[in-house]
Amino acid sequence: MRVVVLGGGRSSEHQVSLKSAAAVAEGIAAAGHEVIEITLDRDGAWCSAGEPLALTPGQGLLDADVVFPVLHGTFGEDGTVQGLLELLDVPYVGAGVLASALCMDKVLFKDLLAAAGVPQVAYAAVRRHEFSDDPDRVYAKLAVLGWPVFVKPARAGSSVGIGKVTRTSQLREALDTAFAHDVVAIVEAASTGSEVECSVLGLDCPEVSLPGEIKLSGADWYDYEAKYTPGAMELVVPARVSEKAAAEIRRLAAETFARVGCAGLGRVDFFVEGDSVLVNELNTMPGFTLTSVYPKLWDATGLPFPQLCDRLLNYALERHRRERAAHA
Ligand SMILES: Nc1ncnc2c1ncn2[C@@H]1O[C@H](COP(=O)(O)OP(=O)(O)O)[C@@H](O)[C@H]1O
Ligand SMILES: [Mg+2]
Repeated sequence: MRVVVLGGGRSSEHQVSLKSAAAVAEGIAAAGHEVIEITLDRDGAWCSAGEPLALTPGQGLLDADVVFPVLHGTFGEDGTVQGLLELLDVPYVGAGVLASALCMDKVLFKDLLAAAGVPQVAYAAVRRHEFSDDPDRVYAKLAVLGWPVFVKPARAGSSVGIGKVTRTSQLREALDTAFAHDVVAIVEAASTGSEVECSVLGLDCPEVSLPGEIKLSGADWYDYEAKYTPGAMELVVPARVSEKAAAEIRRLAAETFARVGCAGLGRVDFFVEGDSVLVNELNTMPGFTLTSVYPKLWDATGLPFPQLCDRLLNYALERHRRERAAHA
């Protein structure tokens, strides 16, 4: 196959995406495919071999059979690039427009899961105008969550804009930080559980990897530094959880993937408190370097990196075929 790999993008995760895209490009080449790399600059331009690209709706992308958008965060993982690829009419790896946008928004994602009775931490959404109009009402609304709480932008990633707060007097600063990234913030009761992640792969009946546990040395929580400082996080596979919790993690990973209409790949992240398992989030385009959790969990489950890439390309083709047939 001729595969276009997209890397970079306009979000704060530009650099991480370039690393993931380089690893994916190698994996695809090792699986025997031709690779063309496209870099999305921070200003939004798309470049191939140093030249800016012009895109034409309905005309595909550089004659690619499949596109692998290895992009994280805003304008990459949030449905915008997925919409563009739909208009170009080219098969692409991963979730479509709706699931990408939904999983990017922590409030809408949690509301959807809450409606289905999926266990999660207690949370509340706070809109910027609501906070500036009447901060005391917001503080009162958040009091039911107890302390500490995590304050986050509704749509961001890599722990950017997130703060952990232990009392009311710290809320203003944390909310302002979150509002620097989005007009909606989410405030969550802190879980005391361990963090466990699970990789999902497939379409209708997805496969689920062994669960992996995030073991931090030093950091209090999994912040930006812990995510990107080599050695700050150790992935323990399988996660040190009860058999009951492990079964629940795998069940909830597959169920959540299906419920949000995900496709191809997703990493579902959990908090595990004894036998009780809470869903935290679903990343539709998780980190994809050789040392990232998503491919490492598959490797530990018996699926090496190049085969993983190959499977993803084939799911992209299958999904495109099916959706075309449905719209014919
Ligand atoms: N409700 C919570 N309870 C405990 N820790 C949390 C909670 N929310 C976030 N965290 C910590 O913050 C990290 C980043 O939060 P997360 O919601 O996963 O955002 P991101 O999309 O940036 O990864 C988590 O991995 C965890 O360490
Ligand atoms: Mg996370």
